[in-house]
Amino acid sequence: CLWVRNLRFKKRLPGPFAWPVVGNAMQLGQMPHITFNKLAKKYGNVYQIRLGCSDIVVLNGDRAIRQALIQHSTEFAGRPNFTSYQTVSGGKSMTFTSYSEQWKMHRKIAQTTIRAFSSANSQTKKTFEQQIVAEATELVEIFLKLSAQGQHFNPAHELTVAAANVICALCFGKRYGHDDAEFRNLLHRIDNFGKTVGAGSLVDVMPWLQSFPNPVRSMFKSFKVQNQEFFGFVQHKVEEHRETFDPQVTRDMSDAIIGVIDKAASKNGLTKDHADGMVSDLIGAGLDTISTALQWIVLLLVKHPKMQTKLHELIDKVVGRDRLPSVEDRSSLAYLDAFIYETMRFTSFVPVTIPHSTTSDVIIEGLHIPKDTVVFINQWSVNHDPLMWKDPHVFDPSRFLDDKGFLDKDLTNNVMIFSAGKRRCIGNQIAKVEIFLFFAVLLHQCSFGKRANKDLSLNCSYGLTLKPLDYKINVKLRGDLLISN
Ligand code: HEM
Repeated sequence: CLWVRNLRFKKRLPGPFAWPVVGNAMQLGQMPHITFNKLAKKYGNVYQIRLGCSDIVVLNGDRAIRQALIQHSTEFAGRPNFTSYQTVSGGKSMTFTSYSEQWKMHRKIAQTTIRAFSSANSQTKKTFEQQIVAEATELVEIFLKLSAQGQHFNPAHELTVAAANVICALCFGKRYGHDDAEFRNLLHRIDNFGKTVGAGSLVDVMPWLQSFPNPVRSMFKSFKVQNQEFFGFVQHKVEEHRETFDPQVTRDMSDAIIGVIDKAASKNGLTKDHADGMVSDLIGAGLDTISTALQWIVLLLVKHPKMQTKLHELIDKVVGRDRLPSVEDRSSLAYLDAFIYETMRFTSFVPVTIPHSTTSDVIIEGLHIPKDTVVFINQWSVNHDPLMWKDPHVFDPSRFLDDKGFLDKDLTNNVMIFSAGKRRCIGNQIAKVEIFLFFAVLLHQCSFGKRANKDLSLNCSYGLTLKPLDYKINVKLRGDLLISN
């Protein structure tokens, strides 16, 4: 009856005691996703915490998360109205904007553009793939230079430049050399981004931290400056495209976006600034995630030399030594794909999605969550749910292979790294192709090692992505150096 329901609705969601002023901020620790998982064992998969002045619902485990994001997709499709989100992409970001008709249109245009330049037909597919392979072979040459005379180096920055080049070539029709100083600087300066917008960041939930000197205030200040610089770079490129725009010739994604948004502007309220915002979103989303994935893959490859040998044997058998691997080899390289899925599951390198908010009242697992509640979605907990994964803390790619050695698609679908529902990642298809091709080419051409007697750690830093701490490797050429044609 209504009386009983209301009584239940008024009940506070379960959750830890929240201290005045700071709430549970001091309990999050260095790795909030692990803390969230621990709290779920005590309070259940749906519970509430308080960070500063915000009540936040945390969702954990496969069942509760899929129930929310898939069965109640519209109710969970919002984004919080955080100050930091309004500073991204000049306030015209699609990613950091809440659910609305305008957002739907903005997202649809981004999706259509990505498809048009990566998979619309066999020619675009081929062009996209060739460009990744070319980038990967250049990376091999750079790795070999950095490994000269047995030197060891950290591959993180070169991987970021390579990933940035792929998305910049798509958006601007132009890649930047690994030694382009302006570009390298720009990439260095966006390091802070994920720490500010990731779940658990205190910038938005404790506004009073902005009124006196402290590390959070400094971080937010540099976030704003870096955002402006990054957005300024993108705006400048998009403006150049506008000046030379020819509706008959679509050179790249920027042209496509300018064309569509200019045409649609009067209908849905999207302005030219939304075109700049969208290009900036795609570049930002497309470089940090891919580079982080590759950093983990290389690290895990070095940590598991037996797996590396097995992968080398497989790739030599399937591809041979006279040509480079291609997407057509993928179905014969199931163990390689399994290694990628296991890297995504094991590291869960986007541990918590970008925060969501509820667009109306909703009930999950019998618990009422009011409209406009901030929601953290703990993807890490899905990928380490002991009900779904045997020995979730063990890195074992073969868990994704069936009896005949084929990739088990039901299991790979259970990995959650691109989120689900209305806000799921729109770059997941291109991301999978990119990661596969970079990995396959690097593996075909190189072997990866570390300093003898120096164990590499799996420790990482927390933000929107989990990044491995500084590690150093050495790379050796496995045969003749092959260059893409
Ligand atoms: C959003 C993961 C690559 C474009 C997201 C979200 C996740 C994610 C977890 C947040 C979803 C949510 O809030 O529920 C990843 C991973 C990638 C990757 C793991 C690579 C391994 C890419 C690429 C692009 C891209 C290459 C585009 C070029 C976007 C955009 C959004 C998004 C535009 C915002 C969607 C929205 O708010 O509606 N991604 N992503 N991502 N991703 Fe990706």
